[in-house]
Amino acid sequence: MSQPSSITLDMCRQLDAEDSLAKLRDKFAFSSKGNIHFDANSIGAMPIDVPDRIQRLMTECWRDQSRRSWTTEDWAEKPRILGGDISHMIGAGANDVVVCDNTTINLFKLLSYAWKIRNSGTVILTEAHNFPTDMHVLQGFMQLLKALKVDGQIRIAEDRAQILDMLDNDVAVLYLTHVDYRSSERWDMADINKKAKSVDALTLWDLSQSAGVLDVDLGGTGADFAVGCGYKYMCGGPGGPAFLYLNPSHQKTAWPTIAGWMGHAKWNKFLSDFEPAGGASSHLTGTPSVIANEVFAASAEIWRGVTRKAVATKHKSLTDMTIKLIEQECGPLGAAVISPKNYDERGGHVAFRHDGAGPVSEALVDNGLILSFRYPDSIRLGLGPLYHNHEDVWNAVKIIKDVLTTEKWRDQKYEKVAI
Ligand SMILES: Cc1ncc(COP(=O)(O)O)c(C=O)c1O
Repeated sequence: MSQPSSITLDMCRQLDAEDSLAKLRDKFAFSSKGNIHFDANSIGAMPIDVPDRIQRLMTECWRDQSRRSWTTEDWAEKPRILGGDISHMIGAGANDVVVCDNTTINLFKLLSYAWKIRNSGTVILTEAHNFPTDMHVLQGFMQLLKALKVDGQIRIAEDRAQILDMLDNDVAVLYLTHVDYRSSERWDMADINKKAKSVDALTLWDLSQSAGVLDVDLGGTGADFAVGCGYKYMCGGPGGPAFLYLNPSHQKTAWPTIAGWMGHAKWNKFLSDFEPAGGASSHLTGTPSVIANEVFAASAEIWRGVTRKAVATKHKSLTDMTIKLIEQECGPLGAAVISPKNYDERGGHVAFRHDGAGPVSEALVDNGLILSFRYPDSIRLGLGPLYHNHEDVWNAVKIIKDVLTTEKWRDQKYEKVAI
């Protein structure tokens, strides 16, 4: 999908005609109001069979079969099954991923576990712009260490360049989000993992903004731990379960921090003494969220049929196109792309700046382009390679151009800005 310098609608259509993933669009349902949803970085599209699956779960399973569904429908196994289904999308083995809880809880589980099995050092190194929940988990964990009178320190890099300078033998865990949720800047995971290994530090990656869109290779790059949201690019539904990953080399060493009955080796024997199940399963906690897992299962079925290379190739083409079109059509109107132009440095979404970014994003939503605003001044378009196409990008940029040209966004009604 190579792209020429000046883009036309016909060129978009030509790229769509060559798209090997184009047929997957039919597996998703889109807004009945005709809006274009470019918020895959916030909430991915709905697989088309979700309503039928939920209807069946409510009637055939809950109402008719009741408790027996735990067995007939494998409800208790779903966290493992779904983890296996999506594992290839992050370069992991099928037993190394489970789908469970939310990202915040999984961050706590794996940060504390990484601390417990650390090689050396007492520092957890992160960057100032990490996602708020990642920072809060870290701060809360440090408070816990303090209460337990255990020596531990947070080290915070103010910018990306500083991280490598600060990565020394005192660092026990390097704790990063793969892609910045505002700008879409991406860390070079292979390089960082290599440098972390050279000082014996363990790595914990938050893949919320990269899983299901980039060519994430946890195994190949030697990552130690990872977590991520299920409801963004993974299309696991609103409030859908998250996932967690442990490198096989760390799976047998210690108990999980939250030892729950679903993480027991023989959970259905109701034994009092905990025995870790082994693999990522040890980090399961309590009863899984069956309804949320059923929604996630609809997207997992789609993920099973794609490779992360194909997904990443299409994503590159879509985001390259988005950047070029915003610059071509909206650059003269004051829009400035802030996401990296080089694909290898870029994450899932494309962000741009404009005066009054909050009201601009409100006006865009009101005019049929659903995207998101992040304080203080970035507007984000999240592209989902399973269902977006280049013509969508063309249509989205047309709406942006219209809102900027007419200055509709200056209307008072757009002053109140949603998150
Ligand atoms: C990088 C990152 N981590 C975590 C979260 C949210 O975590 P949780 O699913 O626990 O709400 C987000 C949500 O946008 C995110 O972008």
